[in-house]
Amino acid sequence: MKLMAALMIVAVLGFSIGGCHCKVVQFIFGDSLSDVGNNKYLSKTLANANLPWYGIDFGNGLPNGRFTNGRTVADIIGDKMGLPRPPAFMDPSLTEDVILANGVNYASGGAGILNETGGLFIQRFSLYKQIELFQGTQDLIVSKIGQAASDKFFQDGRYVVALGSNDFINNYLMPVYSDSWTYNDQTFMTYLMDTLGAQLRLLHSLGARQLIVFGLGPMGCIPLQRVLSTTGACQDKTNKLALSFNQATSNLVNQLSSKLPNASYRFGDAYDVVNNVITNPHKYGFNNSDSPCCSFGKIRPALTCVPVSVLCKDRSKYVFWDEYHPSDSANELIANVMIRKLFSNNGNNGPSPAPAIAPSPAA
Ligand SMILES: *[C@@H]1O[C@H](CO)[C@@H](O)[C@H](O)[C@H]1NC(C)=O
Ligand SMILES: *[C@@H]1O[C@H](CO)[C@@H](O)[C@H](O)[C@H]1NC(C)=O
Ligand SMILES: *[C@@H]1O[C@H](CO)[C@@H](O)[C@H](O)[C@H]1NC(C)=O
Repeated sequence: MKLMAALMIVAVLGFSIGGCHCKVVQFIFGDSLSDVGNNKYLSKTLANANLPWYGIDFGNGLPNGRFTNGRTVADIIGDKMGLPRPPAFMDPSLTEDVILANGVNYASGGAGILNETGGLFIQRFSLYKQIELFQGTQDLIVSKIGQAASDKFFQDGRYVVALGSNDFINNYLMPVYSDSWTYNDQTFMTYLMDTLGAQLRLLHSLGARQLIVFGLGPMGCIPLQRVLSTTGACQDKTNKLALSFNQATSNLVNQLSSKLPNASYRFGDAYDVVNNVITNPHKYGFNNSDSPCCSFGKIRPALTCVPVSVLCKDRSKYVFWDEYHPSDSANELIANVMIRKLFSNNGNNGPSPAPAIAPSPAA
């Protein structure tokens, strides 16, 4: 316990490396589930949460770029590990000092692992683009604190990679995208894993050592998918794709973690629990698991959380905030499950802050 407390203090106060008073910070790569405001600054993007009622349960309640009413899963996991919340890469107040103190979040609504995913949104940062932006960040930091201190800073960082749902929902499963007729379930998964594997290796070559990859939830049960069937049931095919993505990604991540020098790469998902919540919401304190809290009457499917939308009475009782994204309460549950799974080797009583600073715990 004492050691853990000491480690926490180190994480919070930071420590000196090669003349750099560097803290442990996060670098987040993702899609709308992790976006904290990048798309706000992409003037042509159609994936934008910069309007009411997004953000209604966050800070001053004004839209902040998050695609939910409150916190994202990455917000909650970072908070529980005692790490600062990294600002959006596009935030105009982002300076070298801000980066050294808080890290950077590159996540962008509509993004995928694949470059071509989410093309209909016109503008978004796909994962390769996000990694390119990260390289730009590294150049800035090198010129600020020098190569040696910079190398240490980036190797001590915590990395999150959380994409994949758009590669299905806004690519493979949508006939307007050529990937949908070029591939079948199996060849598409291979293509995705080859691409993700190359991206994770690239991140390792850039210094990422402690990295978490998030899996997918039962994305066939998002309201947007349910309205595709006459009965409003979950799309079984879509859920099966999510499960096989999770299995393949888990294998990939474990493989890389054992192969790449000094890498502690972990995979975490909350598929099973979210699936249970959706089947049996009351058991988990929810009252609705099939429709969005923020909706625009019967005009569906569409991304219909807009200023004229009507909100549900109790936002904490809805699993889904809009047609696509979980609510703050659902995100909290997802984050807790993921922490338990990711760090279960550290004990059995729930979230432990230790992994935030522990060097490569056994997987
Ligand atoms: C993906 O996009 C990046 C730029 O963001 C580019 O450098 C790369 O060549 C592209 N990869 C493929 C396979 O198209
Ligand atoms: C791995 O860690 C050791 C000890 O910290 C270090 O000397 C070595 O350079 C690291 N290798 C890589 C590839 O990060
Ligand atoms: C839950 O939903 C039912 C109707 O579906 C309603 O009667 C009840 O008041 C709701 N409870 C809460 C706490 O919102």
